[in-house]
Amino acid sequence: MSGRTDAGNTTTGGLRGGRIVGWGTALPDQVLSNADLEANLDTTDAWITERTGIKERRYGGTTAGLAAEAGRKAIESAGVDPASIDLLILCTTSPDRNLPASASTVQAALGLDCGAFDLNAACSGFVYGLAAANGYIAMGSKRILLIGAETLDKMTDPEDRGTAILFGNGGGAVVIDAVPEGDPVQLLGWDVGSDGDAEHILYAELGGYMQMDGREVFRKAVRVMVQSANTAMERAGVTAKDIALVVPHQANIRIIDSACDKLGFDREQTALVLQSTGNTSAASIPLALSEALDQGRVRDGDLVLLVGFGAGMTWASAVLRWSEAGPVEIGAAP
Ligand code: COA
Repeated sequence: MSGRTDAGNTTTGGLRGGRIVGWGTALPDQVLSNADLEANLDTTDAWITERTGIKERRYGGTTAGLAAEAGRKAIESAGVDPASIDLLILCTTSPDRNLPASASTVQAALGLDCGAFDLNAACSGFVYGLAAANGYIAMGSKRILLIGAETLDKMTDPEDRGTAILFGNGGGAVVIDAVPEGDPVQLLGWDVGSDGDAEHILYAELGGYMQMDGREVFRKAVRVMVQSANTAMERAGVTAKDIALVVPHQANIRIIDSACDKLGFDREQTALVLQSTGNTSAASIPLALSEALDQGRVRDGDLVLLVGFGAGMTWASAVLRWSEAGPVEIGAAP
């Protein structure tokens, strides 16, 4: 595929890796149900449910506000001192302003004393961010707050039934600690990629609404999910039968079913929140992962596969070996 990058690798080459020690989510209060959409658009609850699996999505809030709420909950769930966070990465394709990065607003809201930046790889953002966080940890960072947060309502044309049915707002966050030397790393294999030649199938001009060729996105999404997941699993030295839980980007249940079918996964192995969140872009994987963790669906030693895809076109996958070991107190931030 043109534009394909081959940047992924395993983290087993002796570099220091990270592991997730806390997580949290945020959803704005305003619920937009399929019935609400029916009232204003030429569509039906039955059509949306059958074609997408989505029943409702959330509107309102700000990207920084949702990110800060999810981040605060992740820090609380990890039980760590916010002062020990030495980097904040906010994955978002819907920042609140052009300048500054929304990550800086979140940093101030949480009272953190650390580096902060936004990362935009559209719906693949969170998995790109996970790989980036592990890279920072390999280079010396000790505790990173990684957030995916979006307010896609401001980029969605309420009169376009092709997109208005799909997208919503939300946030999800994890705290990632550097793993002490000798402990197993969590990120076993990863893959990130981009095909900029496909940018026309899903885009939004600055300040404009999303424009989407739904059928083409669907077709390409299934293909890149399968390719990217297989690449990450190969690099991790595992196969589909080793994976306990798949956490796919929550775009459309038919995309997920089709990709999982080709990869050899059951629906029961898949973390799904899209029925109540819609597509929340970079927030969707941490939202689904957090819910699965809260439900006790992941046990110590389980392998978890994260698979994202989105505008760009971009894609990103990661294989994690879950560890229930808690936070690592290896000294204050530099
Ligand atoms: N309600 C009712 N009918 C609708 C509709 C809606 N919201 N949207 C489209 N239709 C109609 C179309 O006009 C078309 O009618 P026709 O057969 O009379 O021409 C028919 O339904 C089928 O349209 P089509 O576009 O082929 O539907 P689809 O099965 O591809 O579903 C999407 C449309 C958008 C749900 C689907 O293409 C999709 O989910 N694509 C991926 C989008 C995505 O995930 N984007 C984010 C990626 S990160």
